[in-house]
Amino acid sequence: MNFGIIGFGRIARKFVQAIEATDEGKIYAIGSRSVFMDDPYLKEHSEVKVYKDYEELLNDPQVDAVYIALTHKFHKEWILRSLEHHVPVLSEKPLVLTATDVDEIQEKVKKTNTLCTEALKTKFNTGYDHLKEDLKRIGNIQTIYANFCSDSLGLPKTSFLFDKEQGGALNDIGSYVLGFILGIHEEEIDKIETERKDIEGINYYFRSKIYFKDGCIATAEGAIDREMDRYAKIVGTKGEIMIPNYNRIIDYTIHWNDGTTETKSYPFKGNDMTMQIQDFIDDVKNGKVQSEKHCLVDTKKILEISEMISA
Ligand SMILES: NC(=O)c1ccc[n+]([C@@H]2O[C@H](COP(=O)([O-])OP(=O)(O)OC[C@H]3O[C@@H](n4cnc5c(N)ncnc54)[C@H](OP(=O)(O)O)[C@@H]3O)[C@@H](O)[C@H]2O)c1
Repeated sequence: MNFGIIGFGRIARKFVQAIEATDEGKIYAIGSRSVFMDDPYLKEHSEVKVYKDYEELLNDPQVDAVYIALTHKFHKEWILRSLEHHVPVLSEKPLVLTATDVDEIQEKVKKTNTLCTEALKTKFNTGYDHLKEDLKRIGNIQTIYANFCSDSLGLPKTSFLFDKEQGGALNDIGSYVLGFILGIHEEEIDKIETERKDIEGINYYFRSKIYFKDGCIATAEGAIDREMDRYAKIVGTKGEIMIPNYNRIIDYTIHWNDGTTETKSYPFKGNDMTMQIQDFIDDVKNGKVQSEKHCLVDTKKILEISEMISA
């Protein structure tokens, strides 16, 4: 399957490695306004076409699907344009910046009968499926904690993380923490309480308590101004599960109330992005217009909760 990449920045460099371990995905073209022809990747891959204009890439009939790796605020425009060309889209997270934007995308998906999936890699790795099965073994879920905190203060102030239109922690990593919590606990939410640190319209830190109607309390913590070990912890009535780097699960440990432990390990094929690309390829081949693992309704729910946290 011939992929075109729109935006050849940091994460796109990881995508080109990830796709090598898929069954039939290959990089056919790169659309980039800033890439130079002496770029090491292009020098090594002279077969890859380069377009300075994203629209020209979309007009190329050899492009079977696109991966959008632009910074957040440009996703919506290029998702919509790709769908108008009937080109299936895998777009980086956050898919778009508001829940209403998801409605617009959803409408276009229906009108064009073309797939659009948010690249929330967490939900595509095998470890996540096993974790969901193991959750059924630890009794009633009482608390969930998940964090994603990194110190990005050293980045230039021109970074998209400090752009008022798209910057901040909630926009950048909200989809990981909230997507994980909402994915493993699909219950109705009663209320949300939030502590946050915002400076000049940019969210540097948030810690939100999500109270579910079934009594479970989840805590989501995210930051761009401090480092923390990344993990999730789920406490049930019979035991608890510790998941390091829950956004790309390789292993986790179940601590049973009787003092015994069980460690599970699910190494990746390729890298942590490979399985989401494989799943997307399978969906395109099977003519699907929604991902079963992470559909647009899931994306919208994350953004709705994000908006409640922002409010
Ligand atoms: N899944 C993951 O693990 C993961 C990890 C990191 C980031 N991401 C997501 O991936 C997306 C891209 O992140 P990144 O770190 O790769 O971003 P980046 O390297 O800063 O930028 C990606 C591309 O966006 C375009 N761009 C950047 N700034 C622009 C500007 N001011 N005006 C016009 N175009 C601009 C450029 O496209 P051209 O090539 O055309 O110049 C650039 O190559 C983000 O939405 C982020 O949330 C995902």
